[in-house]
Amino acid sequence: MDLLLPLISLLLVAGGGGRWLGSFVDGATTAVPNLEEVPSAAYWETVLPGIPMPPAIINLLLAQQNEGEGSHHAHSHKHGNKKQAGVFFFHDMLRLGSVIIPTIPLTTSLPALLPHNIAKSIPFSTERLSDIIAIFAPASLAMAREIRWTLDTCDHPRTLPGQKAGCATSLESLTELASSLHGTHNVHAFSAANLPIDAAGTPALRGMYNMTAVRKLSDSQEIVTCHDLTYPYTVYYCHTANPTAAYTVTLESVDGATVPQVMEALAVCHLDTSRWSPKNPFFEMHNLKPGDVAVCHFLTKLSIIWVRGGEQGDTHAATR
Ligand SMILES: *[C@@H]1O[C@H](CO)[C@@H](O)[C@H](O)[C@H]1NC(C)=O
Repeated sequence: MDLLLPLISLLLVAGGGGRWLGSFVDGATTAVPNLEEVPSAAYWETVLPGIPMPPAIINLLLAQQNEGEGSHHAHSHKHGNKKQAGVFFFHDMLRLGSVIIPTIPLTTSLPALLPHNIAKSIPFSTERLSDIIAIFAPASLAMAREIRWTLDTCDHPRTLPGQKAGCATSLESLTELASSLHGTHNVHAFSAANLPIDAAGTPALRGMYNMTAVRKLSDSQEIVTCHDLTYPYTVYYCHTANPTAAYTVTLESVDGATVPQVMEALAVCHLDTSRWSPKNPFFEMHNLKPGDVAVCHFLTKLSIIWVRGGEQGDTHAATR
């Protein structure tokens, strides 16, 4: 990483005034750096002309310019057996005035989003695990475990039958992956507009919130979801999961005392759960069988949902 970061800083030249960036950026009140100078942002404009970049990508790109120093990325997910049934909720919760204690997995830092040529030059497969751990030395045991889990997930996606999946390590490959999973470049991308970067140790349960806006992102049930994986730099795992409904949800603290007071998050609802494990804690908790109900959950700050152009429910939903 020591070798890579100065190179990354050099590549991401800061400039002045962005055209379409300002309103998406967390806490941006002053001049916004010009991301058009960034090759991967220019690539986006070429393959997805006029399509707004989701806040997640803008924040990742800007973090490179502002910090010049990457931090190992961590959200405190417990993969494998998601113990908490509280991650999931029923579809009918997604309505105005619905009160919920949302579980939104924490994002405690923004990982480096590598330029495409650098990402391509770094080994990325389970076979090269020891080389990779050496590149990012010193890696804690926990980080080494996350690296192995991420590589394994990308080498052998654990998809349900009929699902397609893949990983991307740069904005260019993310764009290509999402487009190829959808079978078209006519796509729109959405992410949470204003979830915080949490202090480490923030409880995932933040308090009671009222849903004050709920907007469906797509009329189609075919969406592509990309999850940020824990890794020394940005890695996205993208998959199709049909049929799925995706929403932006504005959450306002009920007592006004919970921080943040207002959040806008993405939620997805899996409409067909018939192939889920009967041991899913949500099913067990509510005494349900796979396929009985649609199951919803919130996504992390950096997760991205792609819908096909012309099918989006409300273009302004996630980019207000
Ligand atoms: C939730 O928000 C709606 C719309 O702003 C409001 O009418 C309702 O009273 C709120 N409910 C709670 C429990 O705060």
